[in-house]
This record gives sequence, C-alpha cells and structure tokens, in this order.
Amino acid sequence: MSGKSYRVGIVTASDKGYRGARTDESGPAVRRIIEGHGYALASYRVLPDDRDLIAAELRRLADEEDCDLVLTAGGTGFSPRDVTPEATLSVIEREAPGIPEAIRAFSMGVTKRAMLSRARAGIRGKTLIVNLPGSPKAAEESLSFIIGELSHGLAILRGDDGECARLESAGVEP
Ligand code: MTE
Repeated sequence: MSGKSYRVGIVTASDKGYRGARTDESGPAVRRIIEGHGYALASYRVLPDDRDLIAAELRRLADEEDCDLVLTAGGTGFSPRDVTPEATLSVIEREAPGIPEAIRAFSMGVTKRAMLSRARAGIRGKTLIVNLPGSPKAAEESLSFIIGELSHGLAILRGDDGECARLESAGVEP
C-alpha cells in the first residue's frame, strides 16, 4: 500500500465505450490497480473521443473534485479521433514528461508498438494527470510500471513530503 488514500479520477476515452458498443474494461482494470495500492476512487467516467469534453472533465476532476491523480485510458494513438494528449495539454500548467517517457521505455520491451502512443502527463494546480494507452492490457502494463513511484510525486505536489535528497544521499532507495 503506497497510495495513502490519494483520490483518483479515471477517464476512459472511447467512442465505442461511450455509445455502449463496447464494455469498457480499461477503466475497471485501472481501478483495480489503484485500489490495490491504497488509492481511493473519486470518479470514473467513459467519454467519447472529443477534445473539449475530455478537457472539461479533466478540469472538473482537478478543480472541483480536487483529485490528487487523474488517469486517462485511451485516445493516445494515431487515429484522427485520438485526442486525449491534446485535451491534456490544453489543461495542464506544467508537463511531467518523465512519466510517459518511462512508460514508453518500459513498454518497448513488451511491444515495439509502444512507440505509437502519444501519451502525455502534467500538473494542473495540485493534480497530476497521466495518459495511459487504451487497451486493458496496455493500460494495466503501463500503470503497473509507474504506480510505485507516483505516491512520492503526489506527496511532493501536495506538500506532504519535501525531501527527495535525504534518502538518496544516505544511499537508501526511497
Ligand atoms: N503499451 C503497452 N505497455 N502495451 C501495449 O500493448 N500498445 C500500443 C501502445 N502502447 C501497447 C502499449 C499500441 S498498439 C498503440 S496503437 C498505442 O499504445 C496507443 O493506444 P491507444 O490509442 O489505445 O491509446
């Protein structure tokens, strides 16, 4: 357990999921992982691949729900309807490029198609927003790889934890 009950909003971007033509399995997979790490689900919605609707939901989750973490699943590829990265960039104030870089670096060991994800991550106020790829397998693999480190970033973002250097200089893995 590392999530200290940080509150998480989940957004699945999927035209088919929104229309009911496909059951969303990615959102529930993301939910299982975060809850397994001690995070609390604040909100879960399936939206169409619409930049304005996704951006509005990201703003709501950050500004009104005051989520610590928002995870999106889907819409990061090359289809003309894949607009989750653009919606994310339109609402974040500071990018956190290391997170999608780490996901892609790890995922390249799983499938070279990982290079086709345009996922981004960044910070709006005190909320960290991270894009995950859309298939349940890809979302699970990506989130499982990063989740162990997220709580430290969230603690710094929320002002619960100010020190990174102390443990490292003592030669201890944080
Ligand atoms: N990352 C992991 N870990 N595992 C995967 O199977 N699939 C890739 C990539 N990232 C994949 C992955 C594929 S095939 C695509 S097209 C992109 O994510 C974008 O997916 P999205 O459009 O569903 O967001």
